[in-house]
Amino acid sequence: MVVGSNPAEPSDQFFQTMAQIVSKSILVAQGELREFVRGCLAKAGLPEADARLVADSLLESNLRGIDSHGVARLPHYLNRIKHGSINPRPQIKAHQHGPALARVDGDHAMGQLAMQRATEEAIALARSAGAGWVAVENSTHCGALAFFALEIARAGMIALAFSHSDSFVVPFGGKFPFCGTNPICFAAPAENGKAMCLDMATSVVPWNTISNAAIEGVTIPEGWAVDAEGKSTTDPKVAKAVLPFGDYKGSGLGLMVDVFCTALLGSPFGPGIAAMYGDPAKQRLLGGLVGAIDISKFRPVDDFRRTITEMMRQWNAQERARPDEPILYPGQPEEMERERRLAEGIPVGVNLAAIFGKLSAELGVPWQVEAN
Ligand SMILES: NC(=O)c1ccc[n+]([C@@H]2O[C@H](COP(=O)([O-])OP(=O)(O)OC[C@H]3O[C@@H](n4cnc5c(N)ncnc54)[C@H](O)[C@@H]3O)[C@@H](O)[C@H]2O)c1
Repeated sequence: MVVGSNPAEPSDQFFQTMAQIVSKSILVAQGELREFVRGCLAKAGLPEADARLVADSLLESNLRGIDSHGVARLPHYLNRIKHGSINPRPQIKAHQHGPALARVDGDHAMGQLAMQRATEEAIALARSAGAGWVAVENSTHCGALAFFALEIARAGMIALAFSHSDSFVVPFGGKFPFCGTNPICFAAPAENGKAMCLDMATSVVPWNTISNAAIEGVTIPEGWAVDAEGKSTTDPKVAKAVLPFGDYKGSGLGLMVDVFCTALLGSPFGPGIAAMYGDPAKQRLLGGLVGAIDISKFRPVDDFRRTITEMMRQWNAQERARPDEPILYPGQPEEMERERRLAEGIPVGVNLAAIFGKLSAELGVPWQVEAN
């Protein structure tokens, strides 16, 4: 069902500061999209509860405006399940390594499921030991980290989460990629269900923002990506790597994320990681790290929430450089976008919508979305 069509430009000036791919798209009600994704994953062999959790995590990304890690990745996941490198019925196991430490063996599950298990383990460890650190191995692409960090924040804890990808980012001063877009995420609970949540790739944009541009056939801005010769390109189809954010700072941060996600458990790092868009039958052996700090061991959680709310208020109230551009705290653009998309629907690029049409025919899952 069509609920509207998306204009070519974001309506608010400040949304342009988030690196979005703006293409011709159709607005789809979130419930309908969620049901389609859940149905496809269930048909691909995931148990009902797992299909629902992965669908929820992808939809949550789209609702928050993070289209790089939302439903656009569904065809990729289904392809890997079909070729056997994602295990639809994994036996995910947690092994405790001390009062505050555990390891989750993902058994090649969808990364969202392995990271979800790590999140639950980190919360449980933090409840007993005050903090919990859970390293993940034998996993696959896990999507956006905020999904897990915000669950920890809802439990009244401070969250830290890290994940990694195959070689997509050119190190500062280099020509060719080494590390992945290795994201980091921190979240802290505030009052009224809100949270401060910084969730970002350590590259200028995630690789999957480039992938979305390639699917929709739109160009990307100068300064995001380079081609196979290491030269700047605006064509997502010839792009082979992205640049780190903040020169040597983002470059170094991405490398340090691989310390947590690979070196800690002895998983492959950087160029040794099987390519996300390479052989779909090859297991990816991805890792991650999820941490939780139980605030109540330091001070009452409600007092902490009040402090964070006050930090947000004072931050928002700072004098603006440009009157029409608000000063937002980390996670606030996503909160605002979430409200908007819950009301208006989620933009699905027309080419992605056509791919969903083919999946619908193949899997027998209803998808009746048409462009106006
Ligand atoms: N699993 C993986 O392999 C992988 C790899 C890379 C990225 N990711 C995910 O990709 C997602 C998107 O990453 P990204 O780097 O494109 O994020 P982004 O650039 O959209 O946002 C980064 C952070 O900046 C904040 N922000 C954005 N605009 C702002 C503004 N105007 N004022 C104040 N704060 C603002 C956001 O709230 C966010 O916390 C993340 O969820 C990340 O976890 C996943």
